[in-house]
Amino acid sequence: MVHALFNQIAPRYDLLNRLLSFGQDQFWRRKVVDYLPERSDLRVLDIATGTADLALMMVQKSRQVTHVTGVDMAVQMLRLGQDKIEKAGFSACIELQPGDAHKLAFQDDSFDVVTVAFGLRNMPRRDQALSEMMRVLRPGGRLIILEFSMPKNPLIRGLYLLYFRYVLPRIGGFISGDYEAYRYLNQSVETFSSREIDHMTAHRLCFGVATIYVADKLA
Ligand SMILES: C[S@@+](CC[C@H](N)C(=O)[O-])C[C@H]1O[C@@H](n2cnc3c(N)ncnc32)[C@H](O)[C@@H]1O
Repeated sequence: MVHALFNQIAPRYDLLNRLLSFGQDQFWRRKVVDYLPERSDLRVLDIATGTADLALMMVQKSRQVTHVTGVDMAVQMLRLGQDKIEKAGFSACIELQPGDAHKLAFQDDSFDVVTVAFGLRNMPRRDQALSEMMRVLRPGGRLIILEFSMPKNPLIRGLYLLYFRYVLPRIGGFISGDYEAYRYLNQSVETFSSREIDHMTAHRLCFGVATIYVADKLA
């Protein structure tokens, strides 16, 4: 039912992201662009694309990216994403469609890059979703995952947990009108285990509050 939750909070999703992360969420998406492979004419699949912030960031900040397909289960998130794409004038190079990460409607070896930003922890069958991502990636292609993580420093971790447990759900709940959704978001971050992606190269951001994981499919 995760997509129902995102459909519910969609109208306030971007605003709350900026507010609750103190603007860092866009900085983290910008960092994803730095890990794109150094090749031209990249065709990207952005899974759990939501309101298309990462898709837009990639076409705006990278000259290598020529096309992004964004997939998400929450149609309200996609609708808002589509509006943003049209307003920004990128309809020709970003295409959004509904879809489930566990069963992608694309042929094998279709994309040069697959990205997922803050989506993996919401997927109940992570192994299956990851093997789907690898399946649609062409040999030599790259998977890039951006996800929340736990800071290693005990002091920063304590402050982070305090904020995540007590401040974030209240502000998120108040502004979105959905306290349950923001409690879920807090819990999903705390309980997220990166076991399935621990073999990937990890680049920690902001004292480990978020991490970018990178893996290349064998050529
Ligand atoms: C926290 S939002 C992240 C959205 C966007 N990537 C961003 O950076 O803002 C998580 C998104 O994952 C989507 N999602 C969750 N499970 C999914 C699945 N199995 N397949 C596709 N999308 C999924 C939700 O609908 C939601 O839009």
